[in-house]
Amino acid sequence: MVSKLEATLGEVAFVEGPNGLGLIEVKNSAGTATIALQGAQLLSWAPVGEKPVIWLSGKANYLKGKSVRGGIPICWPWFGPHPEEPSHPAHGFARNLDWEVAGTKSLTDATQVVLRLIPNEISWPYPSELECRIKVGRTLEMDLITRNAGLEPFTMGCALHTYFEVGDVRTVEILGLEEAFYIDKVNGGKKRQSGPVTVNSEVDRIYLDTASDCLIRDPGYNRTIRVEKEGSRSTVVWNPWMEKADKMGDLGDKGYLNMLCVESCNAADDVVTVPPGKSHRLSVRYSILA
Ligand code: BG6
Repeated sequence: MVSKLEATLGEVAFVEGPNGLGLIEVKNSAGTATIALQGAQLLSWAPVGEKPVIWLSGKANYLKGKSVRGGIPICWPWFGPHPEEPSHPAHGFARNLDWEVAGTKSLTDATQVVLRLIPNEISWPYPSELECRIKVGRTLEMDLITRNAGLEPFTMGCALHTYFEVGDVRTVEILGLEEAFYIDKVNGGKKRQSGPVTVNSEVDRIYLDTASDCLIRDPGYNRTIRVEKEGSRSTVVWNPWMEKADKMGDLGDKGYLNMLCVESCNAADDVVTVPPGKSHRLSVRYSILA
């Protein structure tokens, strides 16, 4: 462990969070972040001098085996409910397990943290390795790499389920999904987006066949967040709105007004078949437009 730390002395600290959850705190001249070992879940990120970009609920429960409300939970190896087994955990199991630190590295104006998970055969019958590379600086870059270490191909879904902090979601516009078709999980059916996405009631949509960057234009905070992605052709937009947020209990009073999920996914018809010995990489880069 010590040798992994040497290269990043002063930039990376391992601390104990609420209920004994292991946390990694990253701080460098360009930005700060907190990463939970459980789920390799990024809990916070802010470039120096900026408001937090990633939303974390003030009412989050920090419980072993349960992803924290907010941040960037990693959904893997399926997105949403399990396709056949309703008793399996929603969004897969990777977000509920402790990952191992594979290394940390000091880069020019950024710090890299690499976490690894080797699923056991009880949770996932296919030999595989999962790696999450997180680069913290003025931008935040995340790679989620799925390697097939077995002899059979397998099909998996995944997502970086990113909660963005916004001034007031009712004034936000998401650009980049114009004309895309989406599955409407609130009202049912498949629809086509017209113009920017806006949120004035519950929204839960899987946008299909889209590899586009998204821009989150937020007049409340007077900023625009850019989300660039590779290895993904589906994007989820989610806000539970008031009634559902109340039922969830860990979103906080009016929390739904300050958050918006724009998730870079391999979901719905965009699940990926990984041949033996090969890997799939989902990469996302977050930045604030100058
Ligand atoms: C979104 C889904 O990605 O995650 C929603 O599209 C779901 O349907 C939401 O409600 C939150 O999921 P969870 O399991 O973290 O409460």
